[in-house]
Amino acid sequence: MKIIKKSNQINSILDQYNNTGFVPTMGTLHDGHISLIKRSKKENSKTVVSIFVNPKQFNKKKDFINYPTKIKNDIILCKKYKVDYLFLPSFNEVYGWKSLKFKYPKMTKFMEHKFRKNHFKGVLDVMSKLLSIVKNTKVYMGEKDYQQLYIIKQFCKINEITSEIIACKTVRSRRGYALSSRNILLNEKYKKIMSLVYKIILNYKLSNKGKIFDVSFLMKQIKKTGVNKIDYIENVNLESFLKSKKVTNHSNIFIAYYLDGVRLIDNI
Ligand code: PAJ
Repeated sequence: MKIIKKSNQINSILDQYNNTGFVPTMGTLHDGHISLIKRSKKENSKTVVSIFVNPKQFNKKKDFINYPTKIKNDIILCKKYKVDYLFLPSFNEVYGWKSLKFKYPKMTKFMEHKFRKNHFKGVLDVMSKLLSIVKNTKVYMGEKDYQQLYIIKQFCKINEITSEIIACKTVRSRRGYALSSRNILLNEKYKKIMSLVYKIILNYKLSNKGKIFDVSFLMKQIKKTGVNKIDYIENVNLESFLKSKKVTNHSNIFIAYYLDGVRLIDNI
């Protein structure tokens, strides 16, 4: 595995290949990230992973400062899973050069776009840079961050970006909750609550197919577990990405909530 810190270096290395997979991350890698790496390895001759904690997508400075980093362990994991190139750029390598002007897609002001001001602008800014540096690849991204995935797909389409975004299933712990880099900030007491939240939403979904979505019922149930702050719970059609009145096979229930000051998202 080669570790590369310079944008022009990774850019010119990748020019030699036409079958490359790319897994952009912010590090503190877990089995969710590893599943993306494995899929890329399977479908491409070379795999690039990037680790860059993008300050622009954190709407609160404190959240950026507290974001976990585990770079030594990440390097070990990338070697273990036979990543070909690990791209570790500095802020300047990502942002210190001018790129083409990109258009932003229309984003419905709900869920993450409502509760994290400018978050997606920051995500699209970093993705436009990363996809210009690591060009013409298959980009593996997780459905755990479904709204991010949806917006990045639209962004690539309207800007005619030649990379292909590939949606990958959410990897969960054995107890149900979605794996996330932020989970290491939470102890066992909170993990129990996370698995309860998962079970409540899953059971609700399974027993209410075809019925009208009742957000206040779910809010009450989830608050009983010890969660005291919920940003939103929404039932969303996965194709149109609009709110859905009914619980169906084509809709997921999206949630953002806090435990011990840590913000968690999932969709089930
Ligand atoms: P990060 O949170 O590190 O996630 C990197 C990728 O891993 C994203 O595509 C995310 O959806 C995926 N992922 C995270 N947890 C997952 C899980 N449990 N199962 C499957 N996939 C999972 O998302 C970001 O970083 C950043 O916003 C980024 C796109 C890198 C831009 O800075």
